[in-house]
Amino acid sequence: MSPGAPDRETLGRLVGRSLLTTDDFDDRELDALLAVATRLAARDRAGITTPLFPHQLAYALFFDNSTRTKSAWAGAAARLGMQPVIVDGSSTQVSHGETAVETGAMLGMNAHALGIRHDLILGEGNAFMHDVKRGIDDYLAATADPRRVPIVNLQCDVDHPTQTLADLCWLRERFPEGLAGKRIAVSWAYSPSYAKPLSVPQGLIMLLTRFGAEVTLAHPEGYDLMQPCVDSARRHAAASEGSFRVVGTMDEAFAGADAVYPKSWGPYDLMLERVGANRARDAVRMKEIEREALERNAGHRDWICDERRMASTAGGDALYLHCLPADIGAEVSPGVMARHAVNVAREANWKVYVIMALLAVAKSGDLAGRLAEH
Ligand code: CP
Repeated sequence: MSPGAPDRETLGRLVGRSLLTTDDFDDRELDALLAVATRLAARDRAGITTPLFPHQLAYALFFDNSTRTKSAWAGAAARLGMQPVIVDGSSTQVSHGETAVETGAMLGMNAHALGIRHDLILGEGNAFMHDVKRGIDDYLAATADPRRVPIVNLQCDVDHPTQTLADLCWLRERFPEGLAGKRIAVSWAYSPSYAKPLSVPQGLIMLLTRFGAEVTLAHPEGYDLMQPCVDSARRHAAASEGSFRVVGTMDEAFAGADAVYPKSWGPYDLMLERVGANRARDAVRMKEIEREALERNAGHRDWICDERRMASTAGGDALYLHCLPADIGAEVSPGVMARHAVNVAREANWKVYVIMALLAVAKSGDLAGRLAEH
Protein backbone atom coordinates (compact mmCIF):
# COMPACT_ATOMS: atom_id res chain seq x y z
CA MET A 1 0.00 0.00 0.00
CA SER A 2 1.66 3.23 -1.09
CA PRO A 3 0.20 6.73 -1.42
CA GLY A 4 -0.88 7.70 -4.91
CA ALA A 5 -3.80 9.70 -6.28
CA PRO A 6 -6.82 9.01 -4.04
CA ASP A 7 -9.53 7.15 -5.95
CA ARG A 8 -12.93 8.87 -6.07
CA GLU A 9 -14.89 5.77 -5.08
CA THR A 10 -12.88 5.38 -1.85
CA LEU A 11 -13.03 9.10 -1.11
CA GLY A 12 -16.81 8.86 -1.50
CA ARG A 13 -16.90 6.27 1.29
CA LEU A 14 -15.10 8.67 3.65
CA VAL A 15 -17.61 11.52 3.40
CA GLY A 16 -19.18 12.11 6.80
CA ARG A 17 -16.83 9.63 8.50
CA SER A 18 -14.94 10.19 11.76
CA LEU A 19 -11.81 8.19 12.51
CA LEU A 20 -11.75 7.35 16.22
CA THR A 21 -9.07 4.68 15.86
CA THR A 22 -7.08 3.83 12.72
CA ASP A 23 -8.84 0.46 12.75
CA ASP A 24 -12.02 2.34 11.74
CA PHE A 25 -10.65 2.72 8.19
CA ASP A 26 -9.83 -0.22 5.93
CA ASP A 27 -6.55 -0.29 3.99
CA ARG A 28 -7.96 1.42 0.90
CA GLU A 29 -9.54 4.12 3.02
CA LEU A 30 -6.30 4.76 4.91
CA ASP A 31 -4.45 4.84 1.62
CA ALA A 32 -6.87 7.43 0.25
CA LEU A 33 -6.63 9.51 3.43
CA LEU A 34 -2.83 9.52 3.34
CA ALA A 35 -2.79 10.34 -0.36
CA VAL A 36 -4.88 13.42 0.47
CA ALA A 37 -2.54 14.33 3.35
CA THR A 38 0.47 14.00 1.04
CA ARG A 39 -1.24 16.13 -1.61
CA LEU A 40 -2.18 18.81 0.92
CA ALA A 41 1.37 18.87 2.28
CA ALA A 42 2.84 19.28 -1.21
CA ARG A 43 0.42 22.15 -1.95
CA ASP A 44 1.12 23.88 1.34
CA ARG A 45 4.87 23.54 0.99
CA ALA A 46 4.57 25.00 -2.53
CA GLY A 47 2.62 27.97 -1.18
CA ILE A 48 -0.71 26.90 -2.76
CA THR A 49 -3.65 27.62 -0.44
CA THR A 50 -6.55 25.18 0.07
CA PRO A 51 -9.40 27.15 1.70
CA LEU A 52 -12.06 24.47 1.25
CA PHE A 53 -14.34 25.47 4.16
CA PRO A 54 -14.40 29.25 4.68
CA HIS A 55 -16.44 30.72 7.56
CA GLN A 56 -16.71 27.36 9.34
CA LEU A 57 -15.94 26.66 12.98
CA ALA A 58 -13.34 24.04 13.96
CA TYR A 59 -13.89 23.58 17.69
CA ALA A 60 -11.59 21.48 19.87
CA LEU A 61 -11.83 20.28 23.47
CA PHE A 62 -8.65 19.32 25.31
CA PHE A 63 -8.93 17.44 28.62
CA ASP A 64 -5.12 17.22 28.81
CA ASN A 65 -2.09 19.35 28.02
CA SER A 66 -0.83 19.73 24.48
CA THR A 67 1.63 21.80 22.50
CA ARG A 68 1.88 20.12 19.10
CA THR A 69 -1.62 18.81 18.59
CA LYS A 70 -3.29 22.09 19.56
CA SER A 71 -1.13 23.96 17.12
CA ALA A 72 -1.66 21.32 14.41
CA TRP A 73 -5.44 21.61 14.89
CA ALA A 74 -5.29 25.40 14.60
CA GLY A 75 -2.89 25.22 11.67
CA ALA A 76 -5.04 22.69 9.81
CA ALA A 77 -8.25 24.67 10.35
CA ALA A 78 -6.64 27.93 9.27
CA ARG A 79 -5.20 26.35 6.12
CA LEU A 80 -8.69 25.06 5.22
CA GLY A 81 -10.18 28.54 5.72
CA MET A 82 -11.90 27.52 8.98
CA GLN A 83 -11.91 29.39 12.29
CA PRO A 84 -10.16 27.30 14.98
CA VAL A 85 -11.28 27.55 18.60
CA ILE A 86 -9.60 25.47 21.33
CA VAL A 87 -11.18 25.06 24.75
CA ASP A 88 -9.92 23.51 27.99
CA GLY A 89 -12.26 20.53 28.48
CA SER A 90 -12.19 20.91 32.26
CA SER A 91 -13.73 24.37 31.88
CA THR A 92 -16.87 22.95 30.25
CA GLN A 93 -19.99 21.61 31.97
CA VAL A 94 -18.64 18.07 31.46
CA SER A 95 -16.94 18.52 34.84
CA HIS A 96 -20.39 19.26 36.35
CA GLY A 97 -21.87 16.05 34.99
CA GLU A 98 -23.13 17.04 31.53
CA THR A 99 -23.24 13.84 29.50
CA ALA A 100 -21.08 13.36 26.46
CA VAL A 101 -24.20 12.95 24.29
CA GLU A 102 -25.52 16.33 25.47
CA THR A 103 -22.12 17.91 24.98
CA GLY A 104 -22.03 16.57 21.44
CA ALA A 105 -25.43 18.03 20.57
CA MET A 106 -24.58 21.39 22.09
CA LEU A 107 -21.21 21.72 20.38
CA GLY A 108 -22.37 20.15 17.14
CA MET A 109 -25.19 22.65 16.65
CA ASN A 110 -22.62 25.43 16.17
CA ALA A 111 -19.45 23.75 14.97
CA HIS A 112 -18.45 22.32 11.59
CA ALA A 113 -15.81 19.94 13.01
CA LEU A 114 -14.91 18.86 16.52
CA GLY A 115 -11.50 17.76 17.81
CA ILE A 116 -11.19 16.01 21.16
CA ARG A 117 -8.28 15.02 23.39
CA HIS A 118 -9.38 12.80 26.30
CA ASP A 119 -6.51 10.43 27.00
CA LEU A 120 -5.81 10.18 30.71
CA ILE A 121 -8.28 7.57 31.95
CA LEU A 122 -8.35 4.05 30.49
CA GLY A 123 -11.77 3.05 29.22
CA GLU A 124 -13.09 6.62 29.05
CA GLY A 125 -11.69 8.79 26.25
CA ASN A 126 -12.67 6.71 23.24
CA ALA A 127 -16.10 5.98 24.75
CA PHE A 128 -16.56 9.73 25.37
CA MET A 129 -15.80 10.45 21.71
CA HIS A 130 -18.31 7.86 20.51
CA ASP A 131 -20.99 9.39 22.75
CA VAL A 132 -20.20 12.93 21.61
CA LYS A 133 -20.47 11.71 18.02
CA ARG A 134 -23.86 10.15 18.78
CA GLY A 135 -25.00 13.48 20.29
CA ILE A 136 -23.93 15.40 17.19
CA ASP A 137 -25.32 12.87 14.71
CA ASP A 138 -28.68 12.60 16.50
CA TYR A 139 -29.00 16.40 16.64
CA LEU A 140 -28.16 16.82 12.95
CA ALA A 141 -30.58 14.06 11.95
CA ALA A 142 -33.41 15.33 14.16
CA THR A 143 -33.14 18.87 12.80
CA ALA A 144 -32.48 17.87 9.18
CA ASP A 145 -29.29 19.90 9.38
CA PRO A 146 -27.12 19.08 6.34
CA ARG A 147 -23.78 20.04 7.92
CA ARG A 148 -21.13 17.33 8.19
CA VAL A 149 -19.48 17.63 11.62
CA PRO A 150 -16.72 15.03 11.89
CA ILE A 151 -14.98 14.23 15.15
CA VAL A 152 -11.19 14.09 15.06
CA ASN A 153 -9.57 12.01 17.78
CA LEU A 154 -6.72 14.19 19.03
CA GLN A 155 -5.69 11.42 21.46
CA CYS A 156 -7.75 9.09 23.59
CA ASP A 157 -7.03 6.19 25.93
CA VAL A 158 -6.85 3.70 23.04
CA ASP A 159 -5.21 5.51 20.13
CA HIS A 160 -3.56 8.75 19.05
CA PRO A 161 -4.36 8.47 15.36
CA THR A 162 -3.29 11.93 14.17
CA GLN A 163 0.10 11.20 15.77
CA THR A 164 0.55 7.68 14.43
CA LEU A 165 -0.63 8.69 10.94
CA ALA A 166 1.88 11.58 11.05
CA ASP A 167 4.53 9.05 12.12
CA LEU A 168 3.54 6.83 9.22
CA CYS A 169 3.74 9.72 6.72
CA TRP A 170 7.22 10.51 8.03
CA LEU A 171 8.31 6.86 7.82
CA ARG A 172 7.06 6.73 4.22
CA GLU A 173 8.95 9.91 3.41
CA ARG A 174 12.15 8.40 4.85
CA PHE A 175 11.54 4.92 3.39
CA PRO A 176 9.94 5.63 0.00
CA GLU A 177 10.50 1.99 -0.96
CA GLY A 178 7.81 1.06 1.60
CA LEU A 179 7.67 -0.40 5.08
CA ALA A 180 7.49 -4.07 4.04
CA GLY A 181 10.32 -5.92 5.77
CA LYS A 182 11.44 -2.85 7.72
CA ARG A 183 12.24 -3.62 11.35
CA ILE A 184 10.55 -1.14 13.66
CA ALA A 185 11.06 -1.14 17.45
CA VAL A 186 8.31 0.33 19.63
CA SER A 187 9.83 0.30 23.08
CA TRP A 188 8.97 1.44 26.57
CA ALA A 189 11.49 3.97 27.90
CA TYR A 190 12.10 5.38 31.36
CA SER A 191 10.36 8.60 32.34
CA PRO A 192 10.44 10.43 35.67
CA SER A 193 7.99 13.17 34.58
CA TYR A 194 4.51 11.58 34.64
CA ALA A 195 2.68 8.32 33.98
CA LYS A 196 2.04 8.73 30.28
CA PRO A 197 -0.97 7.34 28.40
CA LEU A 198 -0.78 4.02 26.58
CA SER A 199 -2.37 5.33 23.41
CA VAL A 200 0.78 6.15 21.40
CA PRO A 201 2.38 2.68 21.58
CA GLN A 202 -1.06 1.08 21.16
CA GLY A 203 -1.75 3.20 18.09
CA LEU A 204 1.68 2.47 16.66
CA ILE A 205 1.46 -1.31 16.92
CA MET A 206 -2.08 -1.28 15.46
CA LEU A 207 -1.08 0.91 12.50
CA LEU A 208 2.50 0.01 11.56
CA THR A 209 1.70 -3.72 11.38
CA ARG A 210 -0.63 -2.99 8.43
CA PHE A 211 2.20 -2.40 5.97
CA GLY A 212 4.30 -5.55 6.14
CA ALA A 213 6.76 -4.15 8.68
CA GLU A 214 8.43 -6.35 11.28
CA VAL A 215 7.25 -4.64 14.43
CA THR A 216 8.74 -5.45 17.84
CA LEU A 217 7.10 -4.18 21.02
CA ALA A 218 9.37 -4.13 24.10
CA HIS A 219 8.41 -3.33 27.66
CA PRO A 220 9.29 -4.35 31.21
CA GLU A 221 6.98 -6.69 33.08
CA GLY A 222 3.82 -4.92 34.21
CA TYR A 223 3.76 -2.39 31.37
CA ASP A 224 1.34 -4.31 29.14
CA LEU A 225 -0.87 -2.56 26.63
CA MET A 226 -4.64 -3.05 26.21
CA GLN A 227 -5.21 -6.57 24.91
CA PRO A 228 -7.54 -5.60 22.01
CA CYS A 229 -4.75 -3.37 20.62
CA VAL A 230 -2.20 -6.20 20.84
CA ASP A 231 -4.72 -8.55 19.18
CA SER A 232 -5.26 -6.00 16.42
CA ALA A 233 -1.49 -5.75 15.84
CA ARG A 234 -1.24 -9.54 15.53
CA ARG A 235 -4.13 -9.66 13.05
CA HIS A 236 -2.71 -6.86 10.92
CA ALA A 237 0.78 -8.37 10.90
CA ALA A 238 -0.62 -11.70 9.68
CA ALA A 239 -2.74 -10.01 7.00
CA SER A 240 0.11 -7.82 5.70
CA GLU A 241 2.68 -10.63 5.81
CA GLY A 242 4.74 -8.63 8.26
CA SER A 243 5.37 -9.71 11.82
CA PHE A 244 4.67 -8.67 15.38
CA ARG A 245 6.41 -9.87 18.53
CA VAL A 246 6.64 -8.76 22.13
CA VAL A 247 9.98 -8.90 23.95
CA GLY A 248 11.16 -8.03 27.45
CA THR A 249 14.26 -5.93 26.75
CA MET A 250 15.03 -2.79 24.79
CA ASP A 251 18.22 -4.41 23.49
CA GLU A 252 16.29 -7.19 21.74
CA ALA A 253 13.97 -4.68 20.09
CA PHE A 254 16.77 -2.39 18.92
CA ALA A 255 19.08 -5.08 17.47
CA GLY A 256 19.02 -4.60 13.69
CA ALA A 257 16.11 -2.15 13.75
CA ASP A 258 15.62 0.31 10.87
CA ALA A 259 13.53 2.65 13.01
CA VAL A 260 13.12 2.96 16.76
CA TYR A 261 10.33 4.60 18.75
CA PRO A 262 11.33 4.53 22.45
CA LYS A 263 8.61 6.13 24.55
CA SER A 264 7.34 5.86 28.10
CA TRP A 265 3.90 4.85 29.36
CA GLY A 266 2.41 4.04 32.75
CA PRO A 267 2.20 0.64 34.51
CA TYR A 268 -0.96 -1.11 33.34
CA ASP A 269 -2.41 -2.05 36.74
CA LEU A 270 -1.99 1.49 38.08
CA MET A 271 -3.47 3.02 34.94
CA LEU A 272 -6.49 0.77 35.50
CA GLU A 273 -6.67 1.78 39.15
CA ARG A 274 -6.90 5.41 38.05
CA VAL A 275 -10.32 4.63 36.55
CA GLY A 276 -11.92 3.96 39.96
CA ALA A 277 -10.10 6.79 41.72
CA ASN A 278 -11.14 9.23 39.02
CA ARG A 279 -14.78 8.11 39.14
CA ALA A 280 -14.76 8.51 42.93
CA ARG A 281 -13.15 11.95 42.45
CA ASP A 282 -10.52 10.76 44.92
CA ALA A 283 -7.76 13.31 44.32
CA VAL A 284 -5.61 11.89 47.12
CA ARG A 285 -5.60 8.39 45.61
CA MET A 286 -4.97 9.85 42.15
CA LYS A 287 -1.82 11.53 43.49
CA GLU A 288 -0.72 8.33 45.24
CA ILE A 289 -1.19 6.34 42.04
CA GLU A 290 0.94 8.85 40.15
CA ARG A 291 3.68 8.62 42.81
CA GLU A 292 3.56 4.79 42.72
CA ALA A 293 3.77 4.83 38.93
CA LEU A 294 6.86 7.02 38.95
CA GLU A 295 8.46 4.82 41.63
CA ARG A 296 7.74 1.80 39.45
CA ASN A 297 9.23 3.60 36.41
CA ALA A 298 12.36 4.36 38.44
CA GLY A 299 13.05 0.63 38.69
CA HIS A 300 13.79 0.68 34.94
CA ARG A 301 16.13 3.68 34.54
CA ASP A 302 18.31 1.67 32.18
CA TRP A 303 15.56 1.71 29.51
CA ILE A 304 17.09 4.65 27.63
CA CYS A 305 17.67 5.15 23.92
CA ASP A 306 21.38 5.98 23.96
CA GLU A 307 24.41 5.78 21.67
CA ARG A 308 25.21 2.20 22.72
CA ARG A 309 21.75 0.96 21.80
CA MET A 310 21.60 3.00 18.58
CA ALA A 311 24.91 1.39 17.57
CA SER A 312 23.16 -2.00 17.60
CA THR A 313 20.53 -0.92 15.03
CA ALA A 314 20.71 -1.49 11.26
CA GLY A 315 23.95 0.10 10.10
CA GLY A 316 24.20 1.67 13.55
CA ASP A 317 21.98 4.40 12.19
CA ALA A 318 18.27 3.69 12.77
CA LEU A 319 15.77 6.48 12.37
CA TYR A 320 14.77 7.73 15.84
CA LEU A 321 11.12 8.70 16.23
CA HIS A 322 9.23 10.25 19.14
CA CYS A 323 5.82 11.87 19.43
CA LEU A 324 7.33 14.54 21.73
CA PRO A 325 7.85 15.89 24.25
CA ALA A 326 10.63 13.41 25.09
CA ASP A 327 12.25 13.24 28.51
CA ILE A 328 15.82 14.00 27.45
CA GLY A 329 18.31 12.20 29.68
CA ALA A 330 15.69 9.59 30.63
CA GLU A 331 13.82 8.28 27.55
CA VAL A 332 16.62 9.35 25.22
CA SER A 333 20.20 10.53 25.66
CA PRO A 334 20.94 14.18 24.84
CA GLY A 335 23.27 13.09 22.03
CA VAL A 336 20.71 10.90 20.25
CA MET A 337 18.06 13.61 20.56
CA ALA A 338 20.41 16.29 19.25
CA ARG A 339 21.28 14.12 16.25
CA HIS A 340 17.58 13.60 15.42
CA ALA A 341 16.17 17.02 16.43
CA VAL A 342 15.26 17.98 12.87
CA ASN A 343 13.90 14.49 12.16
CA VAL A 344 11.44 14.59 15.06
CA ALA A 345 10.36 18.11 14.05
CA ARG A 346 9.67 16.92 10.50
CA GLU A 347 7.81 13.94 11.94
CA ALA A 348 5.66 16.30 14.05
CA ASN A 349 4.99 18.59 11.09
CA TRP A 350 3.02 15.86 9.31
CA LYS A 351 0.24 16.12 11.90
CA VAL A 352 -1.13 19.35 10.46
CA TYR A 353 -1.61 17.65 7.07
CA VAL A 354 -3.14 14.52 8.61
CA ILE A 355 -5.72 16.67 10.41
CA MET A 356 -6.39 18.66 7.24
CA ALA A 357 -6.92 15.39 5.37
CA LEU A 358 -9.29 13.99 8.02
CA LEU A 359 -11.39 17.17 7.84
CA ALA A 360 -11.25 17.37 4.04
CA VAL A 361 -12.27 13.77 3.33
CA ALA A 362 -15.10 13.87 5.87
CA LYS A 363 -16.54 17.22 4.87
CA SER A 364 -16.13 17.51 1.10
CA GLY A 365 -18.38 15.51 -1.21
CA ASP A 366 -16.14 16.20 -4.20
CA LEU A 367 -12.65 16.41 -2.77
CA ALA A 368 -10.81 15.32 -5.90
CA GLY A 369 -12.61 18.04 -7.87
CA ARG A 370 -12.15 20.66 -5.15
CA LEU A 371 -8.41 19.99 -4.94
CA ALA A 372 -8.14 20.32 -8.69
CA GLU A 373 -10.02 23.66 -8.53
CA HIS A 374 -8.02 25.29 -5.74
N1 CP B 1 2.73 14.32 20.49
C1 CP B 1 1.74 15.09 20.93
O1 CP B 1 0.58 14.75 20.83
O2 CP B 1 2.15 16.28 21.43
P1 CP B 1 1.27 17.24 22.32
O3 CP B 1 0.90 16.47 23.57
O4 CP B 1 2.14 18.42 22.62
O5 CP B 1 0.04 17.60 21.56
